[in-house]
Amino acid sequence: DKAGHKHFMAKEIAEQPQVIGDAISHYFGSGTDLHLPGDGIDFNGISRMILVACGTAYYACLTAKYWIEKLAGIPVEVDVASEFRYREPPVGEDAIALFVSQSGETADTLAALRYCAGKARTILSVVNVPESSIARESDLALPILAGTEIGVASTKAFSCQLTVLLIVALEAARQRGRLDADRQAEIVTALRGLPARLNLALDTEAITERLSQELAEAQDVLFLGRGQMYPLALEGALKLKEISYIHAEAYASGELKHGPIALIDQNVPVVVMAPRDPLFDKTVSNMQEVMARGGKVLLISDKAGIEAAGDGIWRSIEMPVVEDLLCPILYAIPAQLLAYHTAVAKGTDVDQPRNLAKSVTVE
Ligand code: M6R
Repeated sequence: DKAGHKHFMAKEIAEQPQVIGDAISHYFGSGTDLHLPGDGIDFNGISRMILVACGTAYYACLTAKYWIEKLAGIPVEVDVASEFRYREPPVGEDAIALFVSQSGETADTLAALRYCAGKARTILSVVNVPESSIARESDLALPILAGTEIGVASTKAFSCQLTVLLIVALEAARQRGRLDADRQAEIVTALRGLPARLNLALDTEAITERLSQELAEAQDVLFLGRGQMYPLALEGALKLKEISYIHAEAYASGELKHGPIALIDQNVPVVVMAPRDPLFDKTVSNMQEVMARGGKVLLISDKAGIEAAGDGIWRSIEMPVVEDLLCPILYAIPAQLLAYHTAVAKGTDVDQPRNLAKSVTVE
């Protein structure tokens, strides 16, 4: 049942305020204390975390690296499961291994989990399907509570994965004495306000739909982001290519002049995901480099960011202001809407893109 939407993907994008709100209530109850199920995870006894997944779930892990390292001070390694499983990486009792999977059945991710079982101190998973193999074979499975996701392109599962991974980072930071009660309360308040902000982000749909008509003409699209927004740029590019079949690539903004800037001309839209955070000014200079070469910048930012970026921006999409840590979750919405409407404009099969399966249970 598409609940009045044209595609499951549209329905699932629209459901995000609700399901993320559910996940937040599940893990926080009504106060500011965390309720991570199971008392077993000891973030003090470890010296590193290993995060492994595929596709969109891998990008959720990359985002979590920024959060866990910054908040909890634990070194984090992130890898795609198909590489991790065959590399014979050293894994020992000093590590928590964490696997992220919507389906919980992705063959490579499951094989990576089995490789770590009996080596790592704890096997954690972040899953949407609690009865799945990955959930069952973990010491502790944290549900993302996104509900059934039917569209092949992951949307609400991604933002719910991010939400739960941020909660894991907060719990790790709390245990390690790096999160005082005031800061914790501040973040929890921001999390509780997130569904309302997500609704505001969904209100940009009409603008995004118009922009997507123009994006649908492009052969190639670049996505740029810095810091915790870099993985989101990767996710935006994956989403666009998987359903619209437009070639899209993402780079960390600072990498632009190390190669990809050679691609820039007036035919290449460059989507920049950049809230006005402490790294914003650096991203502005990257945008100027693009514009100086005739590139078309589509800036996704907040009001202050769009104003500060000045003239010369091709198009912009304005996001509400949120606590910095929550920006990747909020900015997932315009990334998804852009991909969705571009695909609709191109007339592709949005829910069942060519050559792709929802769950990749073979290598
Ligand atoms: O079920 P999983 O989360 O393990 O699936 C991982 C990837 O196959 C999945 O995220 C894929 O990249 C999606 N099609 C992305 O939209």
